[in-house]
Amino acid sequence: MADNYDDYSREELLRELRLRDRRPRFGLVWERKEIEHEKAVNDDFVALDFDPALSCGVAPYRNLIIEGDNFDALRYLRMTHAGKIKCIYIDPPYNTGNRDFIYNDRFVDKEDAYRHSKWLEFMYRRLQLARDLLAEDGVIFVSIDDNEVFNLAPLMNQVFGERNFIATVIWQKVYSPKNTAMHFSDDHEYVLVYAISRDVWRPNPVPRSETQTNAYKNIDNDPRGHWKASDMTARNFYSKGLYEVTGPTGKKFTSGTRYWRQSYESFLELDKDNRIWWGASGNNVPALKRFLTDVKQGVVPQTLWKYEEVGHTQDAKKEVQEVMQFEDTASVFSTPKPIRLIERILRIATKPDDIILDFFAGSGTTAHAVMKLNAEDGGNRRFILVSSTEAIEEQILPSPPFSKGGEKSAPLFTKEGAANVVANNEANGGSITKGKINNPDTNEETKTPSFTKEGVHSSSPPFEKGG
Ligand SMILES: C[S@@+](CC[C@H](N)C(=O)[O-])C[C@H]1O[C@@H](n2cnc3c(N)ncnc32)[C@H](O)[C@@H]1O
Repeated sequence: MADNYDDYSREELLRELRLRDRRPRFGLVWERKEIEHEKAVNDDFVALDFDPALSCGVAPYRNLIIEGDNFDALRYLRMTHAGKIKCIYIDPPYNTGNRDFIYNDRFVDKEDAYRHSKWLEFMYRRLQLARDLLAEDGVIFVSIDDNEVFNLAPLMNQVFGERNFIATVIWQKVYSPKNTAMHFSDDHEYVLVYAISRDVWRPNPVPRSETQTNAYKNIDNDPRGHWKASDMTARNFYSKGLYEVTGPTGKKFTSGTRYWRQSYESFLELDKDNRIWWGASGNNVPALKRFLTDVKQGVVPQTLWKYEEVGHTQDAKKEVQEVMQFEDTASVFSTPKPIRLIERILRIATKPDDIILDFFAGSGTTAHAVMKLNAEDGGNRRFILVSSTEAIEEQILPSPPFSKGGEKSAPLFTKEGAANVVANNEANGGSITKGKINNPDTNEETKTPSFTKEGVHSSSPPFEKGG
């Protein structure tokens, strides 16, 4: 959307107005002019100050953590990683109105008349930048709940194109209903999935769940192993699919109102090879034996993700406590995601050498999931995490606004969490460096020549670039 009308000539303005009048109005609209401009959204030059003291392993570092506003971090990454990221996972503030979303150093509360517009503007600016980082076969997964899902979906359509919508995943986040709920127990969240190109992106199969594997049995002790009976008929017309077969006991079967999937010749071949199951008594409708060894190693991802498979919120909280020693972890950091949830995403969307980006990283669950999956499949996936420092209660109570970057901020959790994970995975080739966003144009302290300060050099950052 153009917002530099001051520079337009009268003719240009008239043309713009006529164009606008002709344009059909459908899609998402939010109050862009009415809300205060976000301070982070500017054209200032961005650099990164690297902190060797907070790095582990040796340069060039494989993984990168950036502390600071993700608008700046994404602009920085556009210089180093445009088109190089295979998978983005984000878990942005849900805009609950309950001190989770900060806009211009203030919490946005439920009474704020522009709360949805502020959130949409905030997200729009960042998603636009994020899109440029994704590879042609890249994909983005966004966690969200009911507070904004109905606004986020049209926003995603706008940024990534409706045609590139892949799925809305339902994640069952709790293991028991909340009986104190006034209306419904809120048991799930969503993960919206969009590709850069729906035609190009393909998911990897996910491993079969225990329930799915348990459906394969070997009741006739077939030496080829476990199998599952599957229907041999289909609804679609098949010219060779109309015949009668005779079972081992002499009982005859037709395909009824449907069609056999195989020709008569193929049916007889399968039967000869003991690949048809007529039931223990030999009297049942014939079914095809599908062997576990014959089916693909995994299954196509489904949109319903149950906590038994990917974890629930309590799992996630426990996991955070395990990697962080911070007395206020639980209260400051209340919305982590379970590692298995992110691992499922990585399994679906990444290959062993891919780069994964999370620009609302929080406690660094994404780093943990990347390292875990690498350890499992011998991969070399790398991560880039971005997060601002967490605001803590004492900053909020007296009188907002407060500064997220101020002295009182809690330590950047991603550093603590992710570095612990990486340190424990040193054998897996883990190395990590951390940079702080720095705007030399506006930051008096570091104005000159912060570029080469403490190992920072714009042309050769000490981490492995995408490629
Ligand atoms: C919901 S939490 C993410 C939790 C994360 N998935 C985990 O498992 O720990 C959102 C995070 O984004 C951070 N954040 C919010 N606004 C940000 C911004 N403009 N730039 C960078 N980080 C931001 C918050 O500080 C918070 O840590």
